[in-house]
Amino acid sequence: MTDELLGQIRLNGAAPRHVAIIMDGNGRWARERNLPRPFGHRAGMKAVREIVEGAIEAGVEVLTLFAFSEENWQRPPTEISALMSLLEEYIAKEAAELRDQGVVVHVLGERARLAPGARAAIDRVERDTRGGRRLALNLCISYSSRAELARAARLLAEEVLKGTKRLEDIDEEAVREKLYTAPWSDPDLLIRTSGELRISNFLLWQLAYTELYMTPVLWPDVTRRDLFQAILDYQRRDRRFGKVTAPAPP
Ligand code: FPP
Repeated sequence: MTDELLGQIRLNGAAPRHVAIIMDGNGRWARERNLPRPFGHRAGMKAVREIVEGAIEAGVEVLTLFAFSEENWQRPPTEISALMSLLEEYIAKEAAELRDQGVVVHVLGERARLAPGARAAIDRVERDTRGGRRLALNLCISYSSRAELARAARLLAEEVLKGTKRLEDIDEEAVREKLYTAPWSDPDLLIRTSGELRISNFLLWQLAYTELYMTPVLWPDVTRRDLFQAILDYQRRDRRFGKVTAPAPP
């Protein structure tokens, strides 16, 4: 069945180059089973592996996952430390396989806030997967889009103060270059799981013309089938980027 969906994606032509995902619903998944929330996150970690493999199969070039927001620092300390341990565990378990699959990992966000152990793990996986050419896996950790935009404004202001940039050269491209996502094109498709219909401070600049796909499936239950279905839905969309595709009426 997944092979059929994959065949259909290939028949339709190009897959979205860049897919971004708000992985939501781990807590509800755990609650449905009367388990503590960290169990949901652990199950969510398995889904990350599944979706990375599915993205490679479908020919996606960039996968950007929202793993931990700046707002998530307000969660109970036990949940934060469970999430940080999972991140380290994910890196320890998966780094070699990611490298063998041709995945290059980048972590986007305010990494100064992370514990030294988590920072060291991130540095390691970024270094060890550096040559990956098949898929760029961006993990957004301690990330919020407004903070990213404020950081971009600060970096530009510094350059103006130093005299290395002129005020009149601050345009959309100048801002874009200061975002964490500068090396990649904007997401073509955003997926959010768990039925919520929000952007939640994720890639606000980058999502300007992104196609949205919301599914009720809770993140730990997501399989590559769900990813393929989202891609097929995307391939049916008519992307106009604010222009018209049919001749304008007289
Ligand atoms: C949202 O669910 C999910 C998170 C805040 C964390 C996402 C983390 C993972 C998928 C696992 C670890 C990831 C990596 C990359 C190793 P929620 O807790 O807000 O769920 P709820 O809305 O049902 O409470």
